[in-house]
Amino acid sequence: MHPPTAPAIHVQGIEKKFRHNYALRGVELQVATGEVRALLGPNGAGKTTLVKVLTTLIKPDAGVAQVNGWDVTAEPKRVRSSIGMAGQYATVDGVLTGFENLFLIAKLRGAGRRGARRVADDLLARFRLTEAAGQPAATYSGGMRRRLDLAAALVGSPPLVILDEPTTGLDPEARLDTWDAVGELVADGTTILLTTQYLEEADRLADRITVIDQGRVVAEGTSDDLKAQAGQRLVLCVAEDGQLAPAARALASATGAQPDVDRRARRLEVAVTDGSAALGRALAALRSEGVEALELSLCRSTLDDVFLALTGRGRRTPGNRTSQAGQARPEESA
Ligand SMILES: Nc1ncnc2c1ncn2[C@@H]1O[C@H](COP(=O)(O)OP(=O)(O)OP(=O)(O)O)[C@@H](O)[C@H]1O
Ligand SMILES: [Mg+2]
Repeated sequence: MHPPTAPAIHVQGIEKKFRHNYALRGVELQVATGEVRALLGPNGAGKTTLVKVLTTLIKPDAGVAQVNGWDVTAEPKRVRSSIGMAGQYATVDGVLTGFENLFLIAKLRGAGRRGARRVADDLLARFRLTEAAGQPAATYSGGMRRRLDLAAALVGSPPLVILDEPTTGLDPEARLDTWDAVGELVADGTTILLTTQYLEEADRLADRITVIDQGRVVAEGTSDDLKAQAGQRLVLCVAEDGQLAPAARALASATGAQPDVDRRARRLEVAVTDGSAALGRALAALRSEGVEALELSLCRSTLDDVFLALTGRGRRTPGNRTSQAGQARPEESA
């Protein structure tokens, strides 16, 4: 048997190329038992490819990947029996009822009829699907289907559950529902790896966040670590359009960086590394430019700022900052 101290996931130098296109370029990832880890990245970052490697659906070209102590290439069966998985696209069969889906999976995982029935009934109750248990899954709402997917991933109580974009495409209510369901897994002590494009989701669900972009890990830490790494931001609002240019000059001279300017909101914003000292210099510079500040404040970077800085995607509009973090999502690619 593998040592009980093996991390839930150990990934070193994993590479995967599709024709001429590198999906993974040397990914490193360690997830401890009992941890909830978010793999955060924009479209095409390589999240699903990594999930496929970890769930033995594809073989890596290079590197080591171990799941619950088992090597994905050498011991794929043991890996598969030690994990639960909910894919990016619904994995349940729409023709079968909710009950039948779970019952079948439980039987495939080795339960007898009675045991499988009990597992299915328990999971349906846990995910508030008891009433819909007898209906074909195709008639379920998106949120119900996702709950059924999550339930399916839990059949057999695997110690590690991997969820690929569990809430993409869900309406806000169904997303909250799914978050609650994930929260229940966490309470059970299940180790979870979930991929997401939503900062808010990573922030809310995960103990630690691994940011992945273009097949590489570009940052890792708790959400606080990542925000601290991105430093702080100076935010200035002015009363008149005519003050925007001198205000931008003042902030640039105080911080050494060009501020983002939202003309409509008459709001300027710039990243700073030496918070209160920069605030002092900004005040002096604004005074000498003759700018009257409506608002001048120092705030901690949001996860949004971190993500945009790390993945090199500029702010589309500075006004984005005031929108919900979870909505600052890269455009869908076809
Ligand atoms: N089977 C495949 N054949 C060719 N290219 C592929 C294949 N699967 C993935 N890719 C490419 O590998 C890269 C990573 O894709 P992947 O699906 O892992 O990204 P992702 O982070 O899951 O994105 P999304 O958020 O859109 O699901 C992309 O450039 C994608 O086009
Ligand atoms: Mg994907």
